[in-house]
Amino acid sequence: PEGRKVVAVATVSQYACQRRTTTTNHNAVFTDAFEVLAECYEFNQMEGRCLAFRRAASVLKSLPRVLSSLEDTHHLPCLGDHAKAIIDELLQHGRAFDVQKVLSDERYQTLKLFTSVFGVGPKTAEKWYRTGLRAFEHILADRSIHLNHMQQNGFLHYEDISRAVSKAEARALTKVIDEVVHAITPDAIVALTGGFRRGKEFGHDVDIIFTTLEVGKEENLLLDVIKSLENQGVLLYCDYQAATFDTAKLPAHSFEAMDHFAKCFLILRLEASQVEGGLNSGEEDSRGWRAVRVDLVSPPMNRYAFALLGWTGSRQFERDMRRFARKERRMLLDNHGLFDKNKKEFLAATTEKDIFDHLGLEYMEPWQRNA
Ligand code: CTP
Ligand code: MN
Ligand code: MN
Ligand code: MN
Repeated sequence: PEGRKVVAVATVSQYACQRRTTTTNHNAVFTDAFEVLAECYEFNQMEGRCLAFRRAASVLKSLPRVLSSLEDTHHLPCLGDHAKAIIDELLQHGRAFDVQKVLSDERYQTLKLFTSVFGVGPKTAEKWYRTGLRAFEHILADRSIHLNHMQQNGFLHYEDISRAVSKAEARALTKVIDEVVHAITPDAIVALTGGFRRGKEFGHDVDIIFTTLEVGKEENLLLDVIKSLENQGVLLYCDYQAATFDTAKLPAHSFEAMDHFAKCFLILRLEASQVEGGLNSGEEDSRGWRAVRVDLVSPPMNRYAFALLGWTGSRQFERDMRRFARKERRMLLDNHGLFDKNKKEFLAATTEKDIFDHLGLEYMEPWQRNA
């Protein structure tokens, strides 16, 4: 009948893998606040609350406009009473008491500072905090503290690697790796992954994935790449992790478990002359180079699509894709594969699209995965 309009209320899914999330966040005021609380809960080992606020932030990141009233949240999933109270406070006063309290808390500030060092996780930061340490000078002057190789390099290159990496720098480093890989194996595949593949302008590192068409040769390829970088004099630090890959193993239940592919966490030297428009340096940098964190992963070709999907992120997107698989499809997904618990078999994939298809999900482009 004419005159009756059906107003479609777009429902927002509780799963990030069913929400298209670009790099444009209209609700940073709220999501920044949620992320402070999530991090505080993480420092206090309250994983449930931490995840709840990460999920709430992720939902708001997918919205096409800024929240202008509490009513705007009524149709949204994953927002608990605490999250709604924070939104309400921010809408009314522009600040939220609980968030201000965390930001001015000495323990939070110190753990935040310490974990900003490459190689320092919440556990080490906590240990240092408990012994009364509050600043880098205290740590570096304390002779009873043993820093491992990673942490030593974290401090050594602190200024460089805590400065954001630009897209131009990521492109330059991809070119470096691409050339090294192809000089070793002409039929290799190399791709920029992580945040830059999702279209981010800046990142904290550069994530690159590569493989060779010949299954079984990928691990030696990575070792040869590392050797070549060392010979070129650009390898400042290397933490190499050999593959512990077992094809018969079921996908991991826990998201935080690392994958089993051959990989390395590097610090590389990048020359200003290699970067279009120059380095992303604050002041005039007379050195003409900077240090950059680079992650390389080299999965076997037949697992490439799963590894690419897993390393493209975002973390929240990956978490929810696995949760969706488990809860809605009785399937297990991780960086290595997809297992159907009903059919009791692994489902093969040569592209990311194959994986979305197996799960009955609409395909999401990398730039829509910024959950
Ligand atoms: N990842 C992974 N296994 C690791 C390290 C990372 O599967 N050992 C995945 C993460 O889950 C994430 C992606 O690789 O989805 C990229 O990780 P990271 O570089 O930490 O984050 P980015 O999204 O690239 O963000 P940033 O710009 O801060 O680097
Ligand atoms: Mn980190
Ligand atoms: Mn990254
Ligand atoms: Mn990374």
